Amino acid sequence: MAKLTIDGKEIEVPDGTSLFDACRDARGEALPHFCYHPDLSIAGVCRLCQVEVEGMPKLTIACNTGVRDGMVVHTRNERVTRASTQILEMHLINHPVDCPICDQAGECGLQDQYMKYGLYDAEVEMDDKVNKAKAQVIGPHVILDKERCVLCTRCVRFCDEVTGTGELGIFNRGNRAEIGTAPGVELDNNYSMNTVDICPVGALTGRDFRFQKRVWMLKAASSICPGCATGCNVRIDHEAGRIYRLKPRYNPEVNGRWMCDKGRLTYKAVHEDGRLGEPMVAGQPGNWAGVSGAVADLGAKEGFGLAVASPHLSLEEMYLLKKLAGEAPVHGGLTDADRGEKDKLLLDADRTPNRRGLGLLEIGQGDGSALAAVIKGVTGPILIHGGDPAADPAVTEALSGRDVVYIGTHENATSALAAVVLPGAMWAEKAGIFVNRDGRLQEFRQAVARHGNAREDWRILAELLNVGGKEDAPGSLKAVRAGLTSSIDPGTDLNQLPERGFVPGGEVR
Ligand code: SF4
Ligand code: SF4
Ligand code: FES
Repeated sequence: MAKLTIDGKEIEVPDGTSLFDACRDARGEALPHFCYHPDLSIAGVCRLCQVEVEGMPKLTIACNTGVRDGMVVHTRNERVTRASTQILEMHLINHPVDCPICDQAGECGLQDQYMKYGLYDAEVEMDDKVNKAKAQVIGPHVILDKERCVLCTRCVRFCDEVTGTGELGIFNRGNRAEIGTAPGVELDNNYSMNTVDICPVGALTGRDFRFQKRVWMLKAASSICPGCATGCNVRIDHEAGRIYRLKPRYNPEVNGRWMCDKGRLTYKAVHEDGRLGEPMVAGQPGNWAGVSGAVADLGAKEGFGLAVASPHLSLEEMYLLKKLAGEAPVHGGLTDADRGEKDKLLLDADRTPNRRGLGLLEIGQGDGSALAAVIKGVTGPILIHGGDPAADPAVTEALSGRDVVYIGTHENATSALAAVVLPGAMWAEKAGIFVNRDGRLQEFRQAVARHGNAREDWRILAELLNVGGKEDAPGSLKAVRAGLTSSIDPGTDLNQLPERGFVPGGEVR
């Protein structure tokens, strides 16, 4: 351990700690910085994190200095403050200061640090600035504004060290130096939008979010990406019922500070055309008041002959569906649906968020012919919850002439053949638990209002339980979780699921 004094405060940190991290601990906030990032190598190029170490003739950058026992460090004295101001001024010499039309405004490292450490009067006239390319499309998801770049190299190091794809580099020298891709190269790796997150200024912006919303208008909800079995922890940024973007939420045990581009765009399905918004009976719009009667008319009072679940459901929904089925078989849907290519970082081949949940509740899956055989072996109405099993021709054929009740979110082959269609909520419109590929139970929370007259799925299942009159239908999600807790693990209170690994304010800009 090393004992040191920072701004008069004594602290003890493990040997090998960087002075940058020790200063963060002692001050309760990070030193000014652009190039430092906890998950990337040290570049030491922005020179913003300078501190004074007693005994050293010059100021030193803290990110590239290790702690030493007995060090006495000053981070806020006049000499350091003057240096920070001068370095910031240097970074702003050619910066266009076009904050009013910049998407980064409101979450920009340059704006924040200017307000904290800058506040000088600019001595460079706008007309004297070096102009560079603006709004250059460098990949399917990212736009580069070279004038705003402070050459911190975070994006370059991300592509070299995290994805290993190396698309970005610094070209030219002096005040003509600029970030870019080599001719014919695109920034199109699976994680390209993370460069937008780590760019401390508005030089890299996301094509999807660009000019959609000022960031200070957004509200945030904690969630889990539904795009694959990894279960990256995410933040849903939304406003007035509309989702504008997903951002990774720090969880060192799942996704660290990253998420993939496919996952980032999963929110689009919440607002796309084809959402189911009203109950439908025999192909005609109905209403919730008539649902119980319509389902009872199919013979569901005596129970369903089969319940088909999906790995897109929450754990609570799977549990209730099983309860609703009673003695009837419960099938987990198609094992070969929603598969894709796995990559080396986060993206899993299983593109569903809760296949492990089916396993936890002992609900087996099968391919189309296996499910078709199960359907043919039962009598009575069939309840299908989520997914689109009728996309498989063998299942469509087996369902022909059968009474199907479908709970889903989008129009698809299964909704087209169902006698009763009940609109359920998408993951961002409800709360629940997904079990990721490592068996980690992770809670997601509601961010936006449900589409049309869609309902939370647990409420729909509770109503169907009432039709059968077999069980006391639960009156709240809390009650559903209480039942689920005792059925899977009496030692875990699912109403107290900790957001393990979530560090409030742990995002690094
Ligand atoms: S584009 Fe952004 S992340 Fe990349 S070097 Fe410039 S300022 Fe840094
Ligand atoms: S890796 Fe999977 S869970 Fe993570 S962001 Fe991508 S699709 Fe979502
Ligand atoms: S943060 Fe230390 S030099 Fe950039």
